[in-house]
Amino acid sequence: MNVENENAKNVKNTKNITITGDFASIGEKIQKKFAVPGDKSISHRSVMFGAMASGTTEVTGFLTGADCLSTISCFRKLGVDIIIDEKNPTNVLINGTGKLQPSTAILDVGNSGTTLRLMAGLLAGQAFASTLTGDDSIKKRPMKRVVEPLTLMGANISGVYAPVTINPPKQPLHGIEYTLPVASAQVKSAILLASLYASPDEKTIIHEPIATRDHTEKMLNYFGANISRDGTVIISKPILQPLRARPVAVPGDISSAAFWLAAAAILPNCELTICDVGVNPTRAGIIAVLQRMGAKIELQNPRNMGDEPVADIFIKQNPLKATTISGDEIPTLIDEIPAIAAVALFAEGETVIKDAQELRVKETDRIKVVMEEFGKFFVAKNPITPHDDGMTINGVCFGENLLHGATVDSHGDHRLAMILSILAMAAHGETVVVGADCADVSFPGFYEMLPQENIKM
Ligand code: S3P
Repeated sequence: MNVENENAKNVKNTKNITITGDFASIGEKIQKKFAVPGDKSISHRSVMFGAMASGTTEVTGFLTGADCLSTISCFRKLGVDIIIDEKNPTNVLINGTGKLQPSTAILDVGNSGTTLRLMAGLLAGQAFASTLTGDDSIKKRPMKRVVEPLTLMGANISGVYAPVTINPPKQPLHGIEYTLPVASAQVKSAILLASLYASPDEKTIIHEPIATRDHTEKMLNYFGANISRDGTVIISKPILQPLRARPVAVPGDISSAAFWLAAAAILPNCELTICDVGVNPTRAGIIAVLQRMGAKIELQNPRNMGDEPVADIFIKQNPLKATTISGDEIPTLIDEIPAIAAVALFAEGETVIKDAQELRVKETDRIKVVMEEFGKFFVAKNPITPHDDGMTINGVCFGENLLHGATVDSHGDHRLAMILSILAMAAHGETVVVGADCADVSFPGFYEMLPQENIKM
């Protein structure tokens, strides 16, 4: 497999998949025990921090999805030697020198918002100019939320959307005290990365309105940074010497496990154990929500991989009831909302999702596309009502599966492609998922895990 050349540009969203649904018995055909690919957020950070560090960072369990390969490709352009093991591409070596080199080429992040936002912060404090760009979807994703605080720190950065141009700051960056206007780990991480390169006596203080995923703080400290937390306040001090290379074992991605959790919650006779899944509390909201809805879930064999908690997740179907998801819970499951919405179709009552306006600025407007594409499975009224900041899902399939095969479209959104495929397994008849191949962005091998006799690629 020539992983080296496989970045986001190779995901063309042109391949369709046809899935023959079989609600009653397809669940039995799904493998009972498996692992999902490595966590996307942690994989990105392992490459970034390894590239900033001095020495060799050995990463195991790396996600070979297109997004993380885009991060590797950007850091290679910045002069970092990164070796992907040919036999097992989830093993990656990053030979950092503690210093990045200027890139004459534009840095192409493909479809990856995490690469774009975090690299903007990291590059803001460097003594050379860079330009970051990406695919059509990335060019629509807001950058002002990152550009604004970085500018306050003295960065020389412009672009409300990609391409974003970063010139060297006129003087070293300075620390800021900043309240995040949106609960975003990407914005928080961009500020933290820039804060490392501020003048030595300048600390940065970030107030988080709602806790967001904390992988950056944890992993940067593990690599030798000095970031502390006091309640909702995060304090970061500049690094006086380069970060130190450290081995990173990447847990399985709960955002990828989410599709299989949804399958098991919906489909009869589908008892699954998903092994080695990261269950960091800032990410694991879907587990509490599915439990609240009635699904039988157990976290088995809880342990730690480095600083990250992991467990094997056992799940089986049980009658489901609707729930409300809002407020502090939203950032802990923001990427899992399409999967939760699918489960809600099978739950008795109306599930309400609110305070999730961030869904509008993900890879697609996930409120709009979930409503439109899920709606195509229904002959009668669309059971999803969109709101500005979420949606209400009427559990019309509780006790009577009303999903009918349809032609649905991923809109180039990897998470949409996968959850539409899970719903297709439950639907009566045949479904075509248009642009199914974008699943490779975060979950290479997803379609190989579907019962092969039910699919045509
Ligand atoms: C991510 C943070 C989240 C999430 C994204 C990955 C990260 O985005 O949706 O998929 O790795 O920091 P926001 O920070 O914009 O909420």
